Amino acid sequence: MPPPQAADAVAPTTLPSTPETLLPLVLKAMEGSPDARLRGLMASLTTHLHQFVIENAVTEAEFEAAVEFLIGIGQATGPKKNEVILAADLLGVSSLVAVLNNPVAATRESHAALLGPFWRAHAPGCEPGQSIARQSIDAPVLEVQGTVLGAAGQPLAGATVDVWHASPDGLYENQDAAQPEMNLRGRFTTDAAGRYRLRTIVPAGYPVPTDGPCGGLLRAQQRSAMRPAHLHFMVSSPGHRVLVTQVFPHDDARLASDPVFGVTAALVGRFEDALIDGQPGKRLQHDFHLSPGEMVFPKPPIP
Ligand code: BEZ
Ligand code: FE
Repeated sequence: MPPPQAADAVAPTTLPSTPETLLPLVLKAMEGSPDARLRGLMASLTTHLHQFVIENAVTEAEFEAAVEFLIGIGQATGPKKNEVILAADLLGVSSLVAVLNNPVAATRESHAALLGPFWRAHAPGCEPGQSIARQSIDAPVLEVQGTVLGAAGQPLAGATVDVWHASPDGLYENQDAAQPEMNLRGRFTTDAAGRYRLRTIVPAGYPVPTDGPCGGLLRAQQRSAMRPAHLHFMVSSPGHRVLVTQVFPHDDARLASDPVFGVTAALVGRFEDALIDGQPGKRLQHDFHLSPGEMVFPKPPIP
């Protein structure tokens, strides 16, 4: 009797024979994950990936290019830049996660926006009205003030308003050796009436970083890298969900072409012309509404 062939040694139904027969085997192999959420997420992700590969008849060269892209975004990530988050931003996934997890229909909570790759924890604490422009610069002053409110519309005293933004040259302080440490970043505490007040310079639009694989993707898709001007805010108060959001000037021409899809109508603020210390500047009045919940801060994308 001839020795058994490999194909005879294993029941044929457990071996894939066509592209479509792989998926059930992979799903079966993952069934034992004790963590039910991990099991569900991985089953769904794997199913979508298999469908994607089959529907698009992905070639080996395309698969290699995708692998190169993933390696590239990992390698381009470091203390100054988070290219992995940037990739998620450019696909609209960061905004999707922010909007999905911060529904506003049922509450008065302010709209959330993506965190972006440039938030740093531990920005310096500031006095009310203090400027976060930590170097003298020839740029119009922006004064921002408003109230932090809870679910019932009550003012929240002692809330923290953490603000950060890019310089008029379009660079965050950590990207630019010419700016002092923590320039254009600061944390303000609301007074007994829940009010905050800060000064800075009027922000300008700027390009998302294009020196890594994400820049290559934007160029291949002939997309603009320019974000509309904006201020980032992270507003927190014990017993409330942390609000991560952005505010965009109403007259910015790029509101509808943000490469990271971060602008919603509720995030547009009126940056009114104003005389500040006798000089032409801008004034923004902006309130924040927090929802009750656990005060959990995001992991900083950069140190
Ligand atoms: C930002 O606003 O800081 C940002 C967001 C997404 C990608 C790049 C920058
Ligand atoms: Fe930004």
